[in-house]
Amino acid sequence: MGIRIAGTGSYVPEKIRTNADLEKLVDTNDEWIRTRTGVEERRIAAADETASTMAIAAAEKALATAGVDGRDIDAIVVATISPDYIFPNTAALVQHHFQCRQAFCFDLSAACAGFVSSLEVGFSLMRSFPKKYRNVLVCGADKLSVLVDWTDRNTCILFGDGAGCALLQNDGTDSPDSILASSLHADGGYTDVLRIPAGGSHMPASHESVWGRKHFIYMEGRETFRLAVNGMVSSSEEAMAMAGVTIDQVSLVIPHQANRRIIQAVAKRLGVSEDRAFCNIQHYGNTSSASIGIALDEACRAGRIKRGDLVLFTSFGGGLAWGSMLIRF
Ligand code: UT7
Repeated sequence: MGIRIAGTGSYVPEKIRTNADLEKLVDTNDEWIRTRTGVEERRIAAADETASTMAIAAAEKALATAGVDGRDIDAIVVATISPDYIFPNTAALVQHHFQCRQAFCFDLSAACAGFVSSLEVGFSLMRSFPKKYRNVLVCGADKLSVLVDWTDRNTCILFGDGAGCALLQNDGTDSPDSILASSLHADGGYTDVLRIPAGGSHMPASHESVWGRKHFIYMEGRETFRLAVNGMVSSSEEAMAMAGVTIDQVSLVIPHQANRRIIQAVAKRLGVSEDRAFCNIQHYGNTSSASIGIALDEACRAGRIKRGDLVLFTSFGGGLAWGSMLIRF
């Protein structure tokens, strides 16, 4: 078959919010944020920027890199927890922009595990129906700045906005698929640890929900940290074992960017030096569904990934949902 990532792209909004800016909003300081999280600044989307507009901007770059016309996309998956609307889905808005009118479109909600989950679904569609799906656009896009409580210092320091995309293409040759193994998991028993309590059918929007600040991200940081390191390490080991690959053979690990200390702890436990664990959290914070897509694109453009390299994605987020994927780029 020969399904591979033919192009990548990313987009982050222009506006930068630094740690010094946050010192004016909540009782925090630059030193605490840098040492506890690694974040130095994050991007904040403009009022007219949304998950779909950011996904489109990133997708345009991915399509240009792959040399594919947007009208030739056969399916679109957008991973997001901040869709433009409850419905229609964000992917349909992306589809409308690219005028790929017959394309099958849907959003995927797996929070920070969204990009890897969407890659799994995209690859699976292409493997199951190779004649129908030759070009599948996978996007991760989140505008978390509208879901963050800017009065809560436990969370507002962490998150930012952006989008990352990968264009999956089946070149129709006998060459092997890029995806070698994946290990994705979820555990719905931890919904209290990381969630947005209101806005869905469980607690619809009301005056009380708004006054109670229930439409914002709630996170038990310490517990999430512990679970994240364990989940990212175990799923990485599972994916590598499935493919019969050792960590020494992996050129680059691209972890979800939640906290620099999580990335360091995962790298240490996997036995990989820090220079082989990609980190750009200092610039963008945690962009949830977008983080691995943005990191992948930056790593490609910086020449840190070459064709044929083994790359390991590892993710963890609300759901809880987590998982890893090993690809030969
Ligand atoms: O992407 C989804 C997955 N998300 C994650 O994986 C995030 C995981 N969690 C984390 O990254 C970290 O737990 C946080 C960055 C959220 C917090 O770091 P921590 O080292 O776990 O700090 P903590 O919550 O244990 O708090 C330590 C102290 C507390 O003060 P006391 O009780 O020791 O006096 C907090 O009140 O730091 C205080 N604190 C702050 N101080 C200054 C908490 N937030 C801040 C802040 N500025 N922004």
